[in-house]
Amino acid sequence: MIKFTITSTKGGVGKTTLTANLGALLADMGLRVLLIDADVQPSLSKYFPLVKRTPVAGLTEVIVRGQVTASCITQTVYPNLHIVVSDDPEGHLPNWLLNRIDRGFRLRFALQSPAVAEHYDCVLIDTQGAIGPLQDAALMAADILVSPITPEILSAREFKDGTMELLERLEPGSALGATLGPVKAVIYRQDRTVDARLIASGIREDFARFKDRVSVLDTVVPHAKAYKEAATLRVPVHRHERRHAGVMPSASAVMHQLVWELIPSLRGVYADTVHVSERST
Ligand SMILES: Nc1ncnc2c1ncn2[C@@H]1O[C@H](COP(=O)(O)OP(=O)(O)OP(=O)(O)O)[C@@H](O)[C@H]1O
Ligand SMILES: [Mg+2]
Repeated sequence: MIKFTITSTKGGVGKTTLTANLGALLADMGLRVLLIDADVQPSLSKYFPLVKRTPVAGLTEVIVRGQVTASCITQTVYPNLHIVVSDDPEGHLPNWLLNRIDRGFRLRFALQSPAVAEHYDCVLIDTQGAIGPLQDAALMAADILVSPITPEILSAREFKDGTMELLERLEPGSALGATLGPVKAVIYRQDRTVDARLIASGIREDFARFKDRVSVLDTVVPHAKAYKEAATLRVPVHRHERRHAGVMPSASAVMHQLVWELIPSLRGVYADTVHVSERST
Protein backbone atom coordinates (compact mmCIF):
# COMPACT_ATOMS: atom_id res chain seq x y z
CA MET A 1 0.00 0.00 0.00
CA ILE A 2 1.27 3.46 -0.85
CA LYS A 3 0.12 6.61 0.94
CA PHE A 4 0.21 10.12 -0.45
CA THR A 5 -0.63 13.36 1.32
CA ILE A 6 -1.43 16.34 -0.88
CA THR A 7 -0.16 19.41 0.90
CA SER A 8 0.53 23.09 0.56
CA THR A 9 0.42 25.84 3.13
CA LYS A 10 -1.22 28.03 0.52
CA GLY A 11 -4.98 27.81 0.07
CA GLY A 12 -6.74 27.38 -3.25
CA VAL A 13 -3.80 25.97 -5.22
CA GLY A 14 -5.61 22.81 -6.37
CA LYS A 15 -5.00 20.23 -3.62
CA THR A 16 -8.54 18.87 -3.55
CA THR A 17 -8.86 18.77 -7.34
CA LEU A 18 -5.55 16.94 -7.58
CA THR A 19 -6.41 14.46 -4.79
CA ALA A 20 -9.78 13.63 -6.32
CA ASN A 21 -8.46 13.20 -9.85
CA LEU A 22 -5.39 11.20 -8.88
CA GLY A 23 -7.56 8.93 -6.75
CA ALA A 24 -10.13 8.41 -9.48
CA LEU A 25 -7.49 7.66 -12.11
CA LEU A 26 -5.72 5.15 -9.87
CA ALA A 27 -9.09 3.51 -9.18
CA ASP A 28 -9.84 3.31 -12.93
CA MET A 29 -6.40 1.74 -13.39
CA GLY A 30 -7.64 -1.05 -11.13
CA LEU A 31 -6.12 -0.06 -7.79
CA ARG A 32 -8.27 -0.07 -4.66
CA VAL A 33 -8.14 3.54 -3.53
CA LEU A 34 -9.10 5.17 -0.24
CA LEU A 35 -9.40 8.96 -0.16
CA ILE A 36 -9.19 10.68 3.22
CA ASP A 37 -10.64 14.15 3.59
CA ALA A 38 -8.49 15.68 6.34
CA ASP A 39 -9.73 19.21 5.68
CA VAL A 40 -12.37 20.47 8.11
CA GLN A 41 -13.98 22.16 5.10
CA PRO A 42 -15.24 19.01 3.44
CA SER A 43 -14.58 19.79 -0.25
CA LEU A 44 -13.18 16.36 -1.11
CA SER A 45 -16.12 14.69 0.64
CA LYS A 46 -18.45 16.51 -1.76
CA TYR A 47 -16.31 16.17 -4.87
CA PHE A 48 -17.73 12.89 -6.20
CA PRO A 49 -21.23 11.56 -5.59
CA LEU A 50 -21.33 9.08 -2.72
CA VAL A 51 -23.31 5.90 -2.38
CA LYS A 52 -25.71 6.67 0.45
CA ARG A 53 -25.18 4.72 3.61
CA THR A 54 -26.46 5.67 7.04
CA PRO A 55 -25.23 6.11 9.64
CA VAL A 56 -21.82 6.97 8.26
CA ALA A 57 -18.83 7.76 10.43
CA GLY A 58 -15.81 9.58 9.11
CA LEU A 59 -12.63 11.40 10.03
CA THR A 60 -13.71 12.17 13.61
CA GLU A 61 -14.03 8.51 14.45
CA VAL A 62 -10.74 7.70 12.74
CA ILE A 63 -8.86 10.33 14.74
CA VAL A 64 -10.63 9.91 18.07
CA ARG A 65 -10.61 6.10 18.08
CA GLY A 66 -7.19 5.97 16.44
CA GLN A 67 -8.32 3.32 14.00
CA VAL A 68 -10.23 2.93 10.77
CA THR A 69 -13.17 0.55 10.76
CA ALA A 70 -15.45 -0.30 7.85
CA SER A 71 -18.09 2.06 9.27
CA CYS A 72 -15.73 5.04 8.71
CA ILE A 73 -15.56 4.36 4.96
CA THR A 74 -18.10 5.49 2.34
CA GLN A 75 -18.21 4.32 -1.27
CA THR A 76 -18.21 6.82 -4.10
CA VAL A 77 -20.24 6.01 -7.20
CA TYR A 78 -16.96 5.10 -8.95
CA PRO A 79 -15.75 1.52 -8.55
CA ASN A 80 -12.66 0.99 -6.34
CA LEU A 81 -12.87 4.55 -5.05
CA HIS A 82 -13.85 4.95 -1.40
CA ILE A 83 -13.55 7.83 1.06
CA VAL A 84 -13.28 8.71 4.73
CA VAL A 85 -15.41 11.85 4.79
CA SER A 86 -14.67 14.96 6.82
CA ASP A 87 -17.38 15.33 9.45
CA ASP A 88 -16.08 18.09 11.70
CA PRO A 89 -17.65 21.30 10.38
CA GLU A 90 -17.02 23.18 13.61
CA GLY A 91 -13.35 22.27 13.58
CA HIS A 92 -13.11 20.51 16.97
CA LEU A 93 -10.69 17.85 15.77
CA PRO A 94 -7.55 20.03 15.54
CA ASN A 95 -8.07 21.14 19.17
CA TRP A 96 -8.74 17.60 20.29
CA LEU A 97 -5.54 16.46 18.59
CA LEU A 98 -3.50 19.29 20.05
CA ASN A 99 -4.00 17.84 23.53
CA ARG A 100 -2.79 14.36 22.55
CA ILE A 101 0.82 13.42 23.02
CA ASP A 102 0.59 11.05 20.02
CA ARG A 103 -1.04 13.70 17.78
CA GLY A 104 1.59 13.44 15.05
CA PHE A 105 1.26 9.67 14.69
CA ARG A 106 -2.44 9.19 15.25
CA LEU A 107 -3.48 9.08 11.60
CA ARG A 108 -0.40 7.12 10.60
CA PHE A 109 -1.24 4.38 13.11
CA ALA A 110 -4.94 4.48 12.25
CA LEU A 111 -4.05 3.68 8.63
CA GLN A 112 -2.40 0.46 9.79
CA SER A 113 -5.88 -0.86 10.70
CA PRO A 114 -6.86 -4.03 8.83
CA ALA A 115 -9.81 -2.17 7.26
CA VAL A 116 -7.22 -0.12 5.35
CA ALA A 117 -4.09 -2.27 5.17
CA GLU A 118 -5.94 -5.36 3.89
CA HIS A 119 -8.36 -3.63 1.53
CA TYR A 120 -6.57 -0.81 -0.26
CA ASP A 121 -3.57 -0.40 -2.54
CA CYS A 122 -3.37 3.35 -2.29
CA VAL A 123 -4.42 6.03 0.22
CA LEU A 124 -4.62 9.72 -0.74
CA ILE A 125 -5.03 12.32 1.99
CA ASP A 126 -6.28 15.83 1.21
CA THR A 127 -5.34 18.61 3.64
CA GLN A 128 -6.31 22.16 4.45
CA GLY A 129 -4.17 25.00 3.09
CA ALA A 130 -2.91 26.05 6.52
CA ILE A 131 -0.78 24.71 9.35
CA GLY A 132 -2.11 22.89 12.38
CA PRO A 133 -2.16 19.53 14.16
CA LEU A 134 -4.41 17.86 11.58
CA GLN A 135 -2.05 18.88 8.78
CA ASP A 136 0.95 17.60 10.78
CA ALA A 137 -0.78 14.26 11.34
CA ALA A 138 -1.62 14.02 7.63
CA LEU A 139 1.97 14.81 6.59
CA MET A 140 3.36 12.23 8.96
CA ALA A 141 0.96 9.55 7.75
CA ALA A 142 2.26 9.61 4.17
CA ASP A 143 5.02 7.80 2.30
CA ILE A 144 5.17 10.61 -0.25
CA LEU A 145 4.07 14.24 -0.01
CA VAL A 146 2.69 15.82 -3.15
CA SER A 147 2.71 19.59 -3.25
CA PRO A 148 1.05 21.56 -6.05
CA ILE A 149 2.69 24.92 -6.75
CA THR A 150 1.05 27.42 -9.05
CA PRO A 151 3.71 29.28 -11.00
CA GLU A 152 2.92 32.77 -9.81
CA ILE A 153 5.25 34.66 -7.59
CA LEU A 154 3.24 34.66 -4.34
CA SER A 155 2.53 30.98 -4.55
CA ALA A 156 6.16 30.12 -5.29
CA ARG A 157 7.31 32.24 -2.33
CA GLU A 158 4.74 30.64 -0.08
CA PHE A 159 6.01 27.20 -1.07
CA LYS A 160 9.58 28.17 -0.26
CA ASP A 161 8.76 29.91 3.00
CA GLY A 162 5.62 28.22 4.29
CA THR A 163 5.76 24.66 3.05
CA MET A 164 9.51 24.25 3.50
CA GLU A 165 9.29 25.69 7.02
CA LEU A 166 6.52 23.27 7.82
CA LEU A 167 8.63 20.36 6.61
CA GLU A 168 11.64 21.50 8.60
CA ARG A 169 9.51 21.66 11.72
CA LEU A 170 8.53 18.03 11.23
CA GLU A 171 11.98 16.73 10.33
CA PRO A 172 13.73 14.10 12.49
CA GLY A 173 15.19 15.71 15.57
CA SER A 174 12.31 18.17 15.71
CA ALA A 175 9.79 18.18 18.55
CA LEU A 176 7.64 15.59 16.79
CA GLY A 177 10.63 13.53 15.65
CA ALA A 178 8.96 12.10 12.58
CA THR A 179 10.39 10.66 9.44
CA LEU A 180 8.78 12.53 6.62
CA GLY A 181 8.43 11.13 3.15
CA PRO A 182 10.02 12.86 0.18
CA VAL A 183 8.22 15.86 -1.32
CA LYS A 184 7.19 15.76 -4.97
CA ALA A 185 6.30 19.26 -6.10
CA VAL A 186 3.99 19.55 -9.10
CA ILE A 187 3.89 22.73 -11.13
CA TYR A 188 0.17 23.15 -11.19
CA ARG A 189 -2.29 25.34 -13.12
CA GLN A 190 0.42 26.76 -15.33
CA ASP A 191 -1.02 29.20 -17.82
CA ARG A 192 0.54 30.04 -21.16
CA THR A 193 2.13 33.33 -20.14
CA VAL A 194 5.86 33.98 -20.29
CA ASP A 195 5.72 34.97 -16.62
CA ALA A 196 4.35 31.56 -15.59
CA ARG A 197 7.03 29.78 -17.63
CA LEU A 198 9.79 31.91 -16.09
CA ILE A 199 8.54 31.28 -12.57
CA ALA A 200 8.19 27.55 -13.27
CA SER A 201 11.81 27.35 -14.41
CA GLY A 202 12.84 29.46 -11.39
CA ILE A 203 11.12 26.94 -9.10
CA ARG A 204 13.03 24.08 -10.77
CA GLU A 205 16.35 25.89 -10.34
CA ASP A 206 15.62 26.84 -6.72
CA PHE A 207 14.73 23.34 -5.73
CA ALA A 208 17.61 21.63 -7.52
CA ARG A 209 19.65 22.25 -4.35
CA PHE A 210 17.06 20.51 -2.18
CA LYS A 211 16.97 17.45 -4.37
CA ASP A 212 17.33 15.00 -1.47
CA ARG A 213 14.08 16.24 0.03
CA VAL A 214 12.13 17.92 -2.73
CA SER A 215 11.94 16.99 -6.37
CA VAL A 216 9.98 18.97 -8.91
CA LEU A 217 8.17 16.55 -11.20
CA ASP A 218 8.56 16.81 -14.97
CA THR A 219 4.80 16.63 -15.47
CA VAL A 220 3.18 20.05 -15.46
CA VAL A 221 -0.57 20.31 -14.96
CA PRO A 222 -1.78 23.22 -17.10
CA HIS A 223 -4.44 25.73 -16.26
CA ALA A 224 -7.34 24.26 -18.23
CA LYS A 225 -11.10 24.51 -18.10
CA ALA A 226 -11.49 20.72 -18.15
CA TYR A 227 -10.57 20.56 -14.43
CA LYS A 228 -13.29 22.98 -13.42
CA GLU A 229 -15.84 21.43 -15.79
CA ALA A 230 -15.13 17.95 -14.44
CA ALA A 231 -15.50 19.23 -10.87
CA THR A 232 -18.87 20.78 -11.75
CA LEU A 233 -20.03 17.53 -13.34
CA ARG A 234 -18.52 15.52 -10.45
CA VAL A 235 -16.65 13.22 -12.81
CA PRO A 236 -12.93 12.35 -12.91
CA VAL A 237 -11.11 14.67 -15.29
CA HIS A 238 -9.46 11.80 -17.19
CA ARG A 239 -12.94 10.57 -18.12
CA HIS A 240 -14.17 14.07 -18.91
CA GLU A 241 -11.38 15.01 -21.32
CA ARG A 242 -9.90 11.98 -23.01
CA ARG A 243 -8.70 13.89 -26.06
CA HIS A 244 -7.90 17.50 -26.69
CA ALA A 245 -7.70 19.29 -30.02
CA GLY A 246 -4.66 21.53 -30.49
CA VAL A 247 -1.23 21.59 -28.90
CA MET A 248 -2.23 21.10 -25.29
CA PRO A 249 -2.27 17.50 -24.06
CA SER A 250 -5.63 16.18 -22.84
CA ALA A 251 -6.34 16.13 -19.11
CA SER A 252 -6.35 12.34 -19.36
CA ALA A 253 -2.83 12.33 -20.85
CA VAL A 254 -1.55 14.76 -18.20
CA MET A 255 -3.02 12.81 -15.30
CA HIS A 256 -1.60 9.53 -16.65
CA GLN A 257 1.87 11.13 -16.91
CA LEU A 258 1.55 12.38 -13.36
CA VAL A 259 0.52 8.99 -11.97
CA TRP A 260 3.35 7.27 -13.86
CA GLU A 261 5.84 9.73 -12.43
CA LEU A 262 4.53 9.27 -8.90
CA ILE A 263 4.27 5.48 -9.15
CA PRO A 264 6.74 4.32 -11.81
CA SER A 265 5.59 0.68 -11.55
CA LEU A 266 2.30 1.81 -13.17
CA ARG A 267 4.04 3.20 -16.25
CA GLY A 268 2.17 2.02 -19.35
CA VAL A 269 -0.99 1.16 -17.40
CA TYR A 270 -4.05 3.00 -18.70
CA ALA A 271 -7.33 3.78 -17.04
CA ASP A 272 -9.29 1.58 -19.36
CA THR A 273 -9.07 -0.25 -22.64
CA VAL A 274 -10.46 2.73 -24.54
CA HIS A 275 -7.17 4.47 -24.00
CA VAL A 276 -5.18 1.49 -25.21
CA SER A 277 -7.18 1.24 -28.44
CA GLU A 278 -7.10 5.04 -28.86
CA ARG A 279 -3.31 4.89 -28.73
CA SER A 280 -3.05 2.15 -31.34
CA THR A 281 -5.27 3.98 -33.86
N1 LIG B 1 -5.64 22.52 -13.54
C1 LIG B 1 -6.57 23.44 -13.26
N2 LIG B 1 -6.88 24.40 -14.16
C2 LIG B 1 -7.79 25.36 -13.87
N3 LIG B 1 -8.47 25.43 -12.71
C3 LIG B 1 -8.21 24.50 -11.78
C4 LIG B 1 -7.27 23.45 -12.00
N4 LIG B 1 -7.24 22.66 -10.88
C5 LIG B 1 -8.12 23.20 -10.01
N5 LIG B 1 -8.71 24.29 -10.53
C6 LIG B 1 -9.69 25.17 -9.87
O1 LIG B 1 -9.01 25.92 -8.86
C7 LIG B 1 -9.86 26.16 -7.74
C8 LIG B 1 -9.17 25.71 -6.45
O2 LIG B 1 -8.96 24.31 -6.50
P1 LIG B 1 -9.04 23.40 -5.18
O3 LIG B 1 -10.31 23.60 -4.45
O4 LIG B 1 -8.72 22.02 -5.64
O5 LIG B 1 -7.85 24.01 -4.33
P2 LIG B 1 -7.41 23.66 -2.83
O6 LIG B 1 -5.94 23.81 -2.76
O7 LIG B 1 -7.97 22.35 -2.43
O8 LIG B 1 -8.15 24.82 -2.00
P3 LIG B 1 -8.30 24.91 -0.39
O9 LIG B 1 -6.97 25.37 0.12
O10 LIG B 1 -9.39 25.92 -0.22
O11 LIG B 1 -8.66 23.55 0.10
C9 LIG B 1 -11.15 25.39 -8.04
O12 LIG B 1 -12.09 26.29 -8.55
C10 LIG B 1 -10.75 24.39 -9.11
O13 LIG B 1 -11.83 24.03 -9.97
MG1 LIG C 1 -9.14 21.84 -0.76
